[in-house]
Order: sequence, then C-alpha cells, then structure tokens
Amino acid sequence: MEENQYTANSKRYENSSLIYRRCGHSGILLPKVSLGLWQNFGSTSPFDKSRQILHTAFDNGITHFDLANNYGPPYGTAEETFGTIMERDFRPYRDEMFISTKAGYDMWEGPYGNWGSRKYLIASLDQSLKRMKLDYVDLFYTHRYDPHTPLEETLQAIVDIVRAGKALYAGISRWPLEALKFAYDYLRERDVPLLIYQGRLNLLDRAPQEEGILDFCRQKGVGFISFSPLAQGLLTERYLNDIPQDSRMKENRTLTADRLTPELIRYLHTVKSIADSRGENMAQTALAWILEQEGVTSTLVGASSAKQLMNNLCCINSASFSEEHLNILG
Ligand SMILES: NC(=O)c1ccc[n+]([C@@H]2O[C@H](COP(=O)([O-])OP(=O)(O)OC[C@H]3O[C@@H](n4cnc5c(N)ncnc54)[C@H](OP(=O)(O)O)[C@@H]3O)[C@@H](O)[C@H]2O)c1
Repeated sequence: MEENQYTANSKRYENSSLIYRRCGHSGILLPKVSLGLWQNFGSTSPFDKSRQILHTAFDNGITHFDLANNYGPPYGTAEETFGTIMERDFRPYRDEMFISTKAGYDMWEGPYGNWGSRKYLIASLDQSLKRMKLDYVDLFYTHRYDPHTPLEETLQAIVDIVRAGKALYAGISRWPLEALKFAYDYLRERDVPLLIYQGRLNLLDRAPQEEGILDFCRQKGVGFISFSPLAQGLLTERYLNDIPQDSRMKENRTLTADRLTPELIRYLHTVKSIADSRGENMAQTALAWILEQEGVTSTLVGASSAKQLMNNLCCINSASFSEEHLNILG
C-alpha cells in the first residue's frame, strides 16, 4: 500500500444541512464555502501544502473546486497539481466533486490562445482536461467578456462543449449585465441553461449588486458565486498593522501595497470591531456578510494553508447581521 494513501473523512457530510445551498433553479447543491485554486496550487507552491489544503477541503464537505486554464503560477500548473491529486487521491470520489474550469485569458502564443473564439475555448478545455486528468468537468466558464467575438460564437461553443459531454453545465464570469442577459436567453433557448455567474462581491466591492447582476441572477434562477470574497486577504487581520513576509501582498503580483490607503485601513478596523462584537474574526464576518446577500449561492475562497481554510469554514455557522451592523458596514 502507498505510504501516504488518502481516505476521505467519513464524517465529511455530517453538517450538510448547514453547508449546502441550491444553485439557482437547478439540481445542483454547492457548499457555502467553495475552494478556488487561482493561487497557492501552482508549481511554485509546495506540493504537500497544496495537497493538504485540498484534503482538508474535501474532508470538511467542500465539494466544489474552481480552476481555470491560467491558474498557477505558472499558467496551467494549478490544473496539473489538481490532476496529480485526482490521480493519486481523489479518483474514488470523483462523483462527489463539482469541478469547474475556465478559459478567457492569454494562455498560449498567437491569435488563438486568448479571449472568446470557438477555436480557443474548445482547444483550451481539451488541454485543461488533460492537465486535470479528467474526462469531463462539471462546469465550464467563459472567464471574461470578449468585446470583439460575436457573443453567438462564444455561446455556441459552450453549448457544443456541453452537448459533447466535456462539461455538464455552463457558467459565465465577469460579463456585463447586457451580455449576461443575452447569454441567458441564448443558452436557455438551446436547452443548456446558464447554471451560475461568477463575479467579485465582497465588503469592498459591491459591483454585482450595483450593476444589477445579482438581481438578474436571482430573478432568473441563475446561481451566483462570489470570487475573492476576502479581497485577496485584505478582509482579514493580515494587513491591519503591517504587510506580513509570507503574504500575497508581499509577492506584489495581484495584490499591491497601494491598496492600503488610510481610508481602507479605517474601514478594515471597523470590520474588525464588528467581527469582535460577533465573537468572530474578520474573515468569518466578511464571508458571512456575502452569504447573507440575497441571491448568493457560494463564496469562492482562496487559502494559503489548511488552517485558513478551516477558519473560513466557520462562517457557515455565523448569525445574521443586526441592522446596526449592516448600516455601519455600508
Ligand atoms: N473569475 C475570475 O475572474 C476570478 C478572479 C479571481 C479569483 N477567482 C476565483 O476566486 C478564488 C478565490 O480568490 P482569492 O484567492 O482572491 O480569494 P480570497 O479568499 O479573497 O483571498 C485568499 C487569500 O486571503 C488570505 N486568507 C484567506 N483566508 C484567510 C484567513 N482565514 N485568515 C487570514 N488570511 C486569509 C490568504 O492570503 P495569503 O496568501 O496572504 O495568506 C489567501 O491566499 C480563486 O481561487 C479563483 O477560483 C476568480
């Protein structure tokens, strides 16, 4: 027997009435806390740490794992890490998992490795499936809106991907409202209903609410999953006093120190005081706030350790917010 063989925790679904929410008007239940592999799972991250985070997630009822062709760094390597763990540990549990990937950003050189053409989307998904060692993904997203490709071309590629059995459901990320409305109709008319919209919603960024995206999803029975729910770590205690050596901000790639304006620090201290009065830490409070917004199915957290992930999971037991706290949070 292999020394490190993985057997999933037999109690992983014990808390299930608290953990799962229905995704819009669909048959799919998603955990309130899902795990994203944007960072901390590429070939530059220690493999054993990434593996431990993935095991911890699944052992605690997190069944949804979100990837994209360009997650790493470098690009593609988060899918490779996931594929290695799929082969080594997760294969017996494949049918208990809801795995998504995406295409939309610059992935390979030349005119066909980016944006929303049929050629790019179909080739990219084939590459992703190889890296993840999967026959199909549960959910395939167009990762961003492409203003130059006809929407019909992008959407028909998604329809054909689903009909070919390479993805079970269709998703859209970061599309503006008008394009989302078009996509919803196009997909519905072809019997490939839009399962979910992925957008950035957190205490510091309310765009999906302000732009009417969340309302549209709720009215139409489309699920909504919020990415970067902790604003990449800003909405935790991590940056209240300084910039820790082992933090994402120290890497200076996707989160930079210029975000830490005096105004933001003041707001973070407000969130901290509300979290204190709720007996929580900031991450739990920030995630609980998202889960309380009408129309939200799940939060898509990142984590650089299993400990962070376990902490984030505590939000599923959080109490509702008082009117006073909601007013203070804005
Ligand atoms: N559709 C899109 O365009 C898009 C864009 C971005 C992200 N996403 C998806 O959203 C997922 C999550 O994004 P994200 O990683 O930015 O999410 P996030 O949860 O907002 O940030 C994750 C980071 O916050 C810190 N953190 C998490 N839990 C913590 C805790 N309990 N205490 C202290 N610090 C904590 C860690 O930072 P340190 O590393 O500093 O420890 C961690 O790496 C991605 O993996 C991806 O699946 C999608």
